[in-house]
Amino acid sequence: MFGSQVRRSFLEFFESKGHLLVPSAPIVPVGDPTLMFTNAGMVQFKDAFLGMASPPAPRVADSQKCLRISGKHNDLEEVGRDTYHHTLFEMLGNWSFGDYYKPEAIAWAWELLTEVWGLPKDRLYATVYRSDDEAEKLWKEVTDIDPSRIERFDEKDNFWEMGETGPCGPCSEIHIDRGEGSCDMQHVPGHKCAVNVGCARFIELWNLVFIQYSRDDQGTLHDLPAKHVDTGMGLERVAAVLENVAGNYDGSLLREIIARAEAESSLRYGEDPERDISFRVLADHSRAVSFMIADGIEPANEGRGYVLRRVLRRAARHGKNLGFTDTFFHRICDSVISTMGEAYPELNEHRDKILSSVRGEEERFAETLDRGLFHLEQEVERLGPDARILPGEIAFRLYDTYGFPVDMTADIVRSRGMSVDEEAFQRALEEQRERGRGAQAARGAGRDYTLLVAGARGKELRGFAGPFADRAESEILSLACGGQPIDSITEGQEGELVAGLTPFYGESGGQVGDRGYIHGAGASLAEVVDTQKPAPDVIVHHIRVLKGAFRNGDTVSLEIDAERRKRIRLNHSGTHLLHAALRHHLGDSVRQRGSLVDNIHLRFDFDHNGPVKDEALADIEAEVNEIIRANLPVSVEELPYEEAIKSGALAFFGEKYGDLVRVVKMGDYSVELCGGTHVGRTGDIGLLQVVTESGVAAGVRRVEALTGPGALDAVREREAILGEIARLLKSGTEEAAARVERLIARNKELERKLEQAFQGRSRDHLAELLACARDSGGAKIVVSAVDGVESKALRGLADRVREAIGSGAVVLAAEADSKVAVLVAVTSDQTSRFHAGELIKELVPLVDGRGGGKADFAQAGGKNPGGIPALLEKAYELLS
Ligand code: ALA
Repeated sequence: MFGSQVRRSFLEFFESKGHLLVPSAPIVPVGDPTLMFTNAGMVQFKDAFLGMASPPAPRVADSQKCLRISGKHNDLEEVGRDTYHHTLFEMLGNWSFGDYYKPEAIAWAWELLTEVWGLPKDRLYATVYRSDDEAEKLWKEVTDIDPSRIERFDEKDNFWEMGETGPCGPCSEIHIDRGEGSCDMQHVPGHKCAVNVGCARFIELWNLVFIQYSRDDQGTLHDLPAKHVDTGMGLERVAAVLENVAGNYDGSLLREIIARAEAESSLRYGEDPERDISFRVLADHSRAVSFMIADGIEPANEGRGYVLRRVLRRAARHGKNLGFTDTFFHRICDSVISTMGEAYPELNEHRDKILSSVRGEEERFAETLDRGLFHLEQEVERLGPDARILPGEIAFRLYDTYGFPVDMTADIVRSRGMSVDEEAFQRALEEQRERGRGAQAARGAGRDYTLLVAGARGKELRGFAGPFADRAESEILSLACGGQPIDSITEGQEGELVAGLTPFYGESGGQVGDRGYIHGAGASLAEVVDTQKPAPDVIVHHIRVLKGAFRNGDTVSLEIDAERRKRIRLNHSGTHLLHAALRHHLGDSVRQRGSLVDNIHLRFDFDHNGPVKDEALADIEAEVNEIIRANLPVSVEELPYEEAIKSGALAFFGEKYGDLVRVVKMGDYSVELCGGTHVGRTGDIGLLQVVTESGVAAGVRRVEALTGPGALDAVREREAILGEIARLLKSGTEEAAARVERLIARNKELERKLEQAFQGRSRDHLAELLACARDSGGAKIVVSAVDGVESKALRGLADRVREAIGSGAVVLAAEADSKVAVLVAVTSDQTSRFHAGELIKELVPLVDGRGGGKADFAQAGGKNPGGIPALLEKAYELLS
């Protein structure tokens, strides 16, 4: 049975047991800040387990793409070294939400493995949590497993938790004995093959978790209102077992990708243990990288983007072991797209993006990889053969200068039996961050609201009053100052306020938060300077109290700046139209990367290679304005997510299967999932003007635009500037451009003439100066003030005079801009008599200057033109 058949067979089995089949959720968990990536099938159902949302059905099954490269479940270091770890893998899972529990979960797992898939019962083992007598009893009752194969383990192996906090519970696992020959730990002294000792002979196939607790951020377990089942089985692993191949990487799901790496490198998998590690790394990482990019992650220096960068760089480094010297990894990723694109259409859809992103990152890293490796080599040599620790500072330098992620450095030195002093590395990193940290944290966004939100939970919290309310009466649920809960905020103070119901829109989905006022008892008044939305239904108002005081429990009246909101609304609806028009003209590969909508303008970032041509941009703007004039109705509808997607709505991060989502439609022209505030008809936007188009990152462009009154103001402003230009030109606005053109031509002409005039004038000067030459002991001396000669031209003039007199000395002084330029030139045969540098030293003090120079030429400046006659007189005296 091939991997893809195993996937299908699993889903069909649970469908026959009354389960609803759902699609895989994105790899970026939606609305869950506690988790970087979807690391288990249950992630998209977390709220359902916690009793905070209703599940799509009481019984559900799926195959979920999972990534285990961060937080509690991180397998990155292991990948490649053995044959069964992955960063990206598919998790087959079935769930019960307060429906069936342990008996069915255990019985069905056994049925599928042994009856449907025919795995030999005498090779299977079951484990249960140390105190879970119930589970052990059930294994004996509902299956025919040999009771001696049921084993008990403690928290480490048989208590499953999704992360530091969240749903959790005891679990029961099924392991398989792959036979003596599979052990990969024979070299470890005293090793005995058994379940949960880490050798490849006994491997875990399926984890059945009995979710009954939630762990809070203090580490305390709380009983959940209902008991649930959450199971997970690695598809790659079970497929390898059913295909009867040695390791996951020999199974059909991964072998094809390895085959591509073999073809590209002309080497074979299975011939050299060290090289095999690299083959497995490439196969695994190419899948992780392709899925991450398909779900919208870009290489970056922080967050998810940094994880992507680390994985990519680790792969590039392992490529070296297989002899790749050029960029190659994007070609391996291409084989992921062709082998998995059918089951995961997002890969095909974003193929270009995946390939270009990978290639770009490979190119960037190629520039430093070799130099970094060389540097590391030298450092290791310097430390000597007995060193076991690589100092953190060296790891930091590799990170900082050559872009080596620390885990990659650890990976490289591990093969020499060394490890990195990670603590010292973290210290160096932290020090650098401290240095770089800006003095001021941004206002509002990104603050810690935990305590403020906790204060409001459990009270009557209704959240946003909706897009049509400008005003609401409500109770203050929670107050804080700098994140610390307080009872009241008084005149002159700033703080944060959460009310039960509010007309203020909290910043989200690219739309800025509202501003406005809050009126309280006794004419107290606060200005709302920003509004944030840290959690669903929690809207935080940043206030500055102008008068009186605000206390917890007070009833207040909240009122937004309606004019400002109106402008935001126009810009937000304009953004949707712009998005649709961009897709029309540039193709469906245009994908939203980010947006910012405020009362002044709108900004839209999207995937696109190269600048958008002027003509295309003009067409896009024209189309948007056509839709505005068509005055299409704008409707907002709440639909289940899957129905919305079916109806063709554009979705990004922020929603998931089973959610009720808001669909914003503008006629049939634009359909998007969006929680923001919008106009009633497109005509309300009035006008949309594109102001700039620019690049923000590789493959990402940005368009900024204005709408409504803002666009009109911009038009007026430009009109005014044009009017002013026309007035200065004394022409009509229509002729202004032609007039400016003529002016520029005329200016050039005048400049040319002026230059000619100067040259003519200096010829005249020469004649004048020669006419006043005097004789001094057989040499000719010329001493003169010259007018209208720029100091730059003075030198040329002096040279020509010197040449013309043949033998002698020249002293010239010129006044320009209330300053004096003095110049002394001496013919070479006379330098023993007259030293230009010495002469000028004596002369320039007379014009308040200082200077010196060589024997044949000297130049200096002075500040007092009034001293020129005295200077000339002195010059005669010295030269005669
Ligand atoms: N959520 C469980 C796991 O990931 C099934 O192993």
